Amino acid sequence: MAAMEKTYRFEILRYDAAQGGQPRLEAFDFAPARAMSVLEALLEIQAWQDPSLAFRYACRGAVCGSCAMSINGRLQLACRVQLESLPDGRAVLEPLPHLEILRDLVVDMTPFWEKYERVRPWLHARLGDCGDAGMSPAEAKKLDNYVNCILCGLCYAACPVLSGNPDFTGPAALAKLYRFVSDSREEPGDRPLENEDRHEGVWACRSVTRCIQVCPKNVRPTDAVAGLRRRLVSQRFHRLLGRTTHEA
Ligand code: SF4
Ligand code: FES
Repeated sequence: MAAMEKTYRFEILRYDAAQGGQPRLEAFDFAPARAMSVLEALLEIQAWQDPSLAFRYACRGAVCGSCAMSINGRLQLACRVQLESLPDGRAVLEPLPHLEILRDLVVDMTPFWEKYERVRPWLHARLGDCGDAGMSPAEAKKLDNYVNCILCGLCYAACPVLSGNPDFTGPAALAKLYRFVSDSREEPGDRPLENEDRHEGVWACRSVTRCIQVCPKNVRPTDAVAGLRRRLVSQRFHRLLGRTTHEA
């Protein structure tokens, strides 16, 4: 019973890009009637204390990826963090870094989606070879690490490279690119990797692995980048070999 009476203090970043001004932290005290997640607490605060509080969510179950935010400086899904886990019953809630704040905890994900789109994140399948029939269970297993991505943007927000190189494609999009180029049903040569063979592409990654640390789905974008680099080097080698053979 005592646990249910505990009061939590949330300090939530407030800002409205349409109004301008400076972002500020606003404190809300909240005593939950039962165990709940940070997202559920936000919904309660919004319902009973401040209906203007803005944040994103949809599934409430770590599937849609939309409730990503910074909780006490750690980038997490609000629906996965339970109130009991908050040290001293306090939490500072802030929007994801590297993205412009629209309102409170809601950021503009446009750069994230634009970069995602530029890797053409769909299967370029061989004609007549669509569907699972074209892939063995062993081949499908190799992609497991990458298909689980829920596009929450946590890795993008955590990536230190994006601070100095904002055009960097970013971990989520590169992980998705690797997922498709590694798909045995993909039409060979139909997705030129050269688009990412540049300073803002795969070569920007410094293998800091913050993306791996924050991913709620155990996706390993750093490994995907390493795989893409190997493919690019191999392509260059084969091109060079072909040219040498041709010239000889
Ligand atoms: S790789 Fe992980 S952290 Fe990045 S967008 Fe996908 S699920 Fe989120
Ligand atoms: S609400 Fe969908 S992942 Fe949290």
